[in-house]
Amino acid sequence: MTLLEQKKHLRTVLKQRRSLVSESKRRVMSQQIYKYLYEIDEFSHAKSIFCYISYLSEVETHTLINDFIGQNLALAVPKIIKKSEMIAVPLSDLSDLEPDKMGILTPKNNQSASAPFDIAITPGVGFTATGERLGYGKGYYDRWFSQNKVKTKIGVAFEIQLVEQLPTEKTDVSLDILVTEERIIDLRKAF
Ligand SMILES: Nc1ncnc2c1ncn2[C@@H]1O[C@H](COP(=O)(O)OP(=O)(O)OP(=O)(O)O)[C@@H](O)[C@H]1O
Ligand SMILES: [Mg+2]
Repeated sequence: MTLLEQKKHLRTVLKQRRSLVSESKRRVMSQQIYKYLYEIDEFSHAKSIFCYISYLSEVETHTLINDFIGQNLALAVPKIIKKSEMIAVPLSDLSDLEPDKMGILTPKNNQSASAPFDIAITPGVGFTATGERLGYGKGYYDRWFSQNKVKTKIGVAFEIQLVEQLPTEKTDVSLDILVTEERIIDLRKAF
């Protein structure tokens, strides 16, 4: 199998695995992930945060987004504006969101927030305990990270999304911290 075929295969397997988690279990695990996030100093002191808005079986972030809106910090959320481009749009009110054609809650406007960000909360299909990440295969996050400065890149995932190894390319951006329902893995301390 080529590297791209390996990635594709793993996406199918891991998406399927994640989709089997019940909604109630997902909610409980997501709550535990929030708890761990708030234990991270960089997270609890962050003044600017980029955070994805969860969809289907992803680690839920709606509660987080709600918390952020009530706080005195600059929040931005992703919006796909072209086939290969994602931007970070400032968000201060939930009513500024509407479902896109996939049903993912997305900002109505196309204003792009200015980097840098203290924190980015990143979704993914698969992760390794060394910080590699596999997304949905469009390279949106990899490209966005290559163009925007983020102090601490945090991936959130359920343990079942962790694998021993992931096929990676030069353009794959790895994480600084990975948080699951069981642990905080600080990858900056490992090297
Ligand atoms: N910084 C970049 N510049 C140009 N092409 C890139 C960049 N990052 C990724 N790509 C390309 O985008 C395509 C998809 O990348 P990849 O398979 O890593 O997606 P992914 O990590 O699963 O998706 P995402 O980043 O949206 O979560 C690949 O062909 C990859 O080479
Ligand atoms: Mg990638």
